[in-house]
Amino acid sequence: MDFDQPIRRRGSASFKWDLYPGDALPLWVADMDFASPPPVVAALEARVAHGVYGYCVVPDSLIDALGAHLAARYGWSIEPNWLVWLPSVVPGLEMTCRAFAAECEAVMTVTPVYPPFLEAPPHQGRRLVTVPALFDEEPAPVGSQKAASVTSTGVPPATCWRLPLEDMAAACTPDTRALLFCHPHNPLGRVWRREEVAAVVSFCRERGLVLCSDEIHCDLLLDPLEHVPTALLSDEAAEITITLMSPSKTFNLPGLNFAFAVIPNAELRRRFTAAGEGLLPFPGCFAIAAAEAAYREGGPWLAELLEYLRGNAELVERFVRDELPRVRITHVEATYLAWLDVRAVGLPDPGAACVRAGVALSDGADFGAPGFLRLNFACTRATLEEALSRLRGVLG
Ligand SMILES: Cc1ncc(COP(=O)(O)O)c(C=O)c1O
Repeated sequence: MDFDQPIRRRGSASFKWDLYPGDALPLWVADMDFASPPPVVAALEARVAHGVYGYCVVPDSLIDALGAHLAARYGWSIEPNWLVWLPSVVPGLEMTCRAFAAECEAVMTVTPVYPPFLEAPPHQGRRLVTVPALFDEEPAPVGSQKAASVTSTGVPPATCWRLPLEDMAAACTPDTRALLFCHPHNPLGRVWRREEVAAVVSFCRERGLVLCSDEIHCDLLLDPLEHVPTALLSDEAAEITITLMSPSKTFNLPGLNFAFAVIPNAELRRRFTAAGEGLLPFPGCFAIAAAEAAYREGGPWLAELLEYLRGNAELVERFVRDELPRVRITHVEATYLAWLDVRAVGLPDPGAACVRAGVALSDGADFGAPGFLRLNFACTRATLEEALSRLRGVLG
């Protein structure tokens, strides 16, 4: 794969490229500027050539391919009847709020976080409880109690963002019903370690919360770490967990609208499904063709993609360290998103200032963290270099 090859997206009804006029480089919404794996494109071409685009049913062959993907990458062997099809992951967040909290009851999440986590509870008339993630100035020393609590190997985590478990316990009211958990985390780029996931599971079990684990970024680990599906942690975890997944981030298919929930607990599955009854479109023929090809044949492409993304992550981290001394970046363990603390630069509206300088980033305020910016580095290296050099002028 040649990820350096630019593909013109402006004028292709692209949300990312066509929202900002002029020549602003869009490093905001989370899709990639790369073509999907060749087997996906071939499967779509074949489906287009068929010419008949009627109602679809998800074929067993897709369920097999998806199951094989989860088994091979995570050792997770799922039952087909645990699956609930979704047009995308976000409706799964909304359905969780609607299904498991009554009106005015609370749903908790840790900020900063992907904006729909903050929007779903109020959309559904539920109360949002947010708890800010903790930032350690210094990584915990090897062998310290804090390090031991967050790593499986005794090595401190590469980044300093931590789950605020004590604050979550303090903020949890008797009417809190669910936790929306982002795993790996957008925008912090953290891969939650097994011990951290276990602590989240215990937190939810002790308080009777449903744990909605959004694992859409789980295939995009840049560091040699392990993604631990929340539901796989233990039987107790599986009983309370709704896992949301999709091939859309991994294989760059968000415009095709396909995602799914994995819900081993039949009662949770019934309530979750009922919350979307009559509202959700069934997966379309292109989504089905692409998802199956991606899961079945996308592996080699994904390996090359991750290599390229690692290079881009290194470039961003090095550039920020060397050229933007007032900006703080934390190491990106997973996702193609870097989280920048630009508060020390002192701009009243940093997102708008970057757009004026020719780069569109995501504004941290939308994630619950004003003064931060999120940079999507899933673009060609040349685009990234140009964008960084424009940012030097405004954040340097
Ligand atoms: C954590 C997370 N969940 C969900 C989504 C969106 O998923 P979908 O397009 O399937 O609704 C994103 C997209 O950036 C995301 O980062």
